[in-house]
Amino acid sequence: MGDRMKVCICGGGNGAHVMACLSSASQQKPEVRVLTLFKDEAARWAEKLKEEGMTVTKHNPDGKTEEIKGTPALVTKDACKAVTGADVIIFCVPAFAHQQYLEAIAQYVAPNTSIIGVPGQPGFEFQCFHLLEKKAKSCVILNYETLPWACRISEFGRKVDMLGVKETVTGSRVSGRGNQPKFGDPAKILQSFLGALPVLCEANNYLELTLMAMSFCHPPIMYGKWKDWDEKPLSEEPLFYQGASEEAVNLLSAVSDEVLKIGAKIAEIKPDVKMNKLEHAEKWLKDNYVTSITDSSSFYKAMRTNASYNGLVHPMKNISPGQYMPDFRHRYLSEDIPFGLTIVKGMAQILGLGTPIIDEVMTWAQGKLGKEYLVGSELKGKDVKETRAPQAFGFHSLDDLVGIM
Ligand code: NAI
Repeated sequence: MGDRMKVCICGGGNGAHVMACLSSASQQKPEVRVLTLFKDEAARWAEKLKEEGMTVTKHNPDGKTEEIKGTPALVTKDACKAVTGADVIIFCVPAFAHQQYLEAIAQYVAPNTSIIGVPGQPGFEFQCFHLLEKKAKSCVILNYETLPWACRISEFGRKVDMLGVKETVTGSRVSGRGNQPKFGDPAKILQSFLGALPVLCEANNYLELTLMAMSFCHPPIMYGKWKDWDEKPLSEEPLFYQGASEEAVNLLSAVSDEVLKIGAKIAEIKPDVKMNKLEHAEKWLKDNYVTSITDSSSFYKAMRTNASYNGLVHPMKNISPGQYMPDFRHRYLSEDIPFGLTIVKGMAQILGLGTPIIDEVMTWAQGKLGKEYLVGSELKGKDVKETRAPQAFGFHSLDDLVGIM
């Protein structure tokens, strides 16, 4: 069976469950292996599969549901078994776990492999190049901005609900030198696993996607909400987007302005590195939620009147009945700073661009996280090495950044 495509899915959570089932059920009938390194997940999932296969229950907007059945051939925590011979490796796990997976798989990844982060998140490429070393140069690395679905496991190892499907998901590509994937374009392979939706789109390059990533949206809204907080518990969980103050939305807007300047500077110095798909967060919001925004007269109004944000609240800890405290260790800061804004800041620093608003947000956030990324306005704190800033992997110039394309 040398001609059967082999797919390895890294992860054991919601997204990995959907991806394992859909890829197994796809027309190409690949041999799907799941690698999950977390605790006893592999043993528990493998045990479940002895009883019955997997089901994705897709909840359609009309209220109807459909079931998709597909079962991976193997679930293991043994990277050798999962990765040896794999044509496509798909990361479907939060970004903080990528390092662990890349370290485990590195020795088994063959040249010419397609590596796909769904999502990859900012800095995915730097980490792949750092940990896969020379092999990375012969691989295609695709990085998608988000997971294609809102999904939740209903029964571990067996059942997962697909609650919503995105219309489009944008990714970027770093093409390996002389790479000729055996089964063709990995983006098309992934699309065949997903079905009609979401439609996979492609950014001009990985630097553009890094700056597009909306992972820089949460920290300024958190900062705007909590920077002057009196440290007293709240009686209810405040709305995240719809409750954002004008000041918080202005902060987000200013961060977005700084991000656009980074893109413009790259395109000015390297005209071949196109940045024409980059857009301001306000435009992104208004374009993506045309039908659910009732007042688009300003960024602030659009944010507050977007029905798609109904019920989305700040991350809070319920400390006693009716008493809530903000959770500053939530992924809105703990991931979106080291795997989001820090990468953007690192790119600005390489270009010699000042980012006063990003600095202000990061300085506050690192205090809440108990980390030191910035010292003054420079990304040179002792914890930079834990982030995916380009500097943490030895990328110190624009030529370094462009060199891996
Ligand atoms: P998840 O929350 O289900 O991930 C949990 C899994 O991560 C665990 O099952 C385990 O396999 C692994 N994990 C957790 N802690 C770990 C640790 N300390 N060390 C190693 N591995 C660990 O993640 P999910 O929902 O699959 O999402 C994947 C990514 O997609 C995340 O970045 C998430 O923010 C993003 N996303 C998820 C959406 C969803 O609806 N599930 C929607 C949009 C984006």
